[in-house]
Amino acid sequence: MNLLSIDDLTPENIKNLLYIAREALFSSSRLRHKILATAFFEPSTRTKLSFHSAMIHLGGNVIDLPDSSSLKKGESEEDTIRTLSQYADCLVIRHPRDVKGLAKYSSVPVINAGDGSNEHPTQALLDLHTMAMMDKEVLKIMFTGDLYHSRTINSLVKAITKCCNAEFIFTNEINEDLKQYPHLMIDESEIPNYIDKVNVLYMTRPQVERHTDKLVTSNFILTNELVNKMAKDAIIMHPLPRTKELPPEIDTNHRAKYFDQVKNGLYMRMAILGWLI
Ligand code: NCD
Repeated sequence: MNLLSIDDLTPENIKNLLYIAREALFSSSRLRHKILATAFFEPSTRTKLSFHSAMIHLGGNVIDLPDSSSLKKGESEEDTIRTLSQYADCLVIRHPRDVKGLAKYSSVPVINAGDGSNEHPTQALLDLHTMAMMDKEVLKIMFTGDLYHSRTINSLVKAITKCCNAEFIFTNEINEDLKQYPHLMIDESEIPNYIDKVNVLYMTRPQVERHTDKLVTSNFILTNELVNKMAKDAIIMHPLPRTKELPPEIDTNHRAKYFDQVKNGLYMRMAILGWLI
């Protein structure tokens, strides 16, 4: 089985993964003698290294496609994936356009670590894990930034819709995928009027590397003044990396959960690897 999209998961799959991550039901020898290969055709810090760390925590090993691979000699991406799948029990692939197409060339399970503006299912699961820790009956989530290109928001909205009750507020231009979900659409200038009504503020950076197809500007910058208007138990999330939309002055506020997300990413990826491999 592959994990290429949230569509590959049933609500029960998602609930089980959340349960395993939350209860930390891990054995340090579960993936002994197993090998994970990572192939990233786009930059990454957290996604790649959390997969490496997760695999090592479970007793397995990792190999990573180096910058000096034979892609430099003109070898195709398809042959590269075919080759990696001879050496590993699972592949994690990030690509600026297409992971689904490449997964066809693998003989072992493939995990999508981000494919252009499309999906980022493991980020959605770790985000959901972070939200689930709040123990709220209904989640009211406001999304800010470049919603049009954000694969993390695409996958997260899909995942939430599959397994919990939520209300979405979108604050900037959205893509066709997001339009199908019930939501309230407001302008960025109205964020101060709604920020006290949500329990999650989910921020994203402008995805400038994808602005070749469409420029999406966002002028929203979070301030302490706005944060102090939020409910006491509301949280601020961001998949990171951040740019100027989320200034470091917010980091000491108890609502800032973006580095908890980073840690939760390790647990969720341990749950995912243990399950898929
Ligand atoms: C996100 C991504 O790659 O889509 N980063 C991540 O995986 N934590 C968000 C982003 O790059 O803005």
